[in-house]
Amino acid sequence: MTDTATLTVDGQEYSLPIIEGTEGERAVDIRALRAQSGLITLDPGYGNTGSCESAITYIDGERGILRYRGIPIEQFENQPNFVEVAWLLMFGSLPDAAEYDRFSTLLTDTANIDESMKHHFQGFPRTAPPMAMLSAMINALSCFHPEFQELDDLKTFEGAAARLISKVRTIAAYAYRRTHGMPYIYPDPELRYVPNFLHMMFSQPYRQYVCDDAVRDALNLLLILHADHEQNCSTSTVRMVGSSRANLFASCAAGVCALWGPLHGGANVKVLQMLDAIHTGKMTPEEYVKLAKDKSSKVRLMGFGHRVYKSFDPRAVVLQRMAERLLSGRNDRDPLLDIARRLEEIALSDSYFVDRNLYPNVDFYSGVILRAIGIPVDMFTVIFAIGRLPGWIAQWREQNESPDARISRPRQIYTGNRETGYRSRLGSAKAG
Ligand code: SDX
Repeated sequence: MTDTATLTVDGQEYSLPIIEGTEGERAVDIRALRAQSGLITLDPGYGNTGSCESAITYIDGERGILRYRGIPIEQFENQPNFVEVAWLLMFGSLPDAAEYDRFSTLLTDTANIDESMKHHFQGFPRTAPPMAMLSAMINALSCFHPEFQELDDLKTFEGAAARLISKVRTIAAYAYRRTHGMPYIYPDPELRYVPNFLHMMFSQPYRQYVCDDAVRDALNLLLILHADHEQNCSTSTVRMVGSSRANLFASCAAGVCALWGPLHGGANVKVLQMLDAIHTGKMTPEEYVKLAKDKSSKVRLMGFGHRVYKSFDPRAVVLQRMAERLLSGRNDRDPLLDIARRLEEIALSDSYFVDRNLYPNVDFYSGVILRAIGIPVDMFTVIFAIGRLPGWIAQWREQNESPDARISRPRQIYTGNRETGYRSRLGSAKAG
């Protein structure tokens, strides 16, 4: 196959290199296009534009493949260990026992947040959205850890990564406690990553929450499935902010803001609200699907569709299996799971969805699992952020260490006024 592309404009030919990835995906490298031709490319939403070369995560959207550092996500399903996968994403290979113990100890020892940070929570109204508090408090970590403003060596990077991954649980739990007027529960150094988070979420001063193995494994796997997804909206935001050499905390706080949107990580909340609206009889699954097909309704089948997956999102397949396992293990049935299955069945037999390659994505079943664990709906996207944090950190590091690293600064095509003169219309109100 050719390794150059030829572009002909106004009779002038331009030769551009074609680069190829590990799995054979190819790209026209347009770095020299403007210098050669004066032309730029235009691609609203970047659907056809690669922002970087990355070795972290591979997605094949046509075949429904997702691999972390080459490992298919399905292989994490048995004995899921989120901390192990976080290390894999950030450092490029699975940790050995010594690395795992060192990192786990660091996570345990840094789980507390500075006592004065608790006053920040008191400053938020009890109705504050947890995602707003999460982003604000992750950014606030920059104030308490000046030693991590610059991450010049691997040990400092590991220290910053550990504090973020550990403290994000504490911040998330305290945001939840704040909105429910409950006292803050200190982390318990005897508990592993997920049980410690659920302890801080659900224990009371007079009664310890005990995390059973099924819940521990379900939440470990759910966090793993959310851990990275190459250049999605929030990860691209983290890279964009990090490209200005902003510190890791500020970059990840920006990622939380991007993830919050209902078209991205916020979709898991919208899915639950959709399932609940159907469950409470506001409309039938058939009526909802009909609405989602009607463009004028502005309604979408939340949890369906994906920019990259044009077949099943492999995470949705694993999450659906996990939801069934978790609920059957409890001899429990969640009517919302049955409604989700019914919606999927209707949509996947409807040409509107099939013709547009719209399948369930990661958000379609995750809410049913979080509900079964007792996580409230307004915390769903926060859980997504906890899962995605190692991916953001890994991508931030990869960009900062790349020889191509430069500040991200896209171009535009200007469509505004031609040059015109300044004639104020303020009259006597003119004074500045
Ligand atoms: C995540 O990028 C990632 O990797 C994200 C993520 C990650 O791990 O980081 O996977 C996490 O964000 C998953 C997606 C969660 N969002 C939702 O579930 C919201 C519902 N889905 C959509 O809004 C939509 O499918 C997107 C946002 C996910 C993708 O949008 P695109 O790629 O811009 O697709 P589009 O809006 O151009 O839609 C193409 C067509 C349109 O119809 P036509 O103009 O061709 O007639 O499909 C239709 C859309 O109207 N369509 C839908 C639909 N999604 C797309 N119609 C009804 N319901 C939907 N859910």
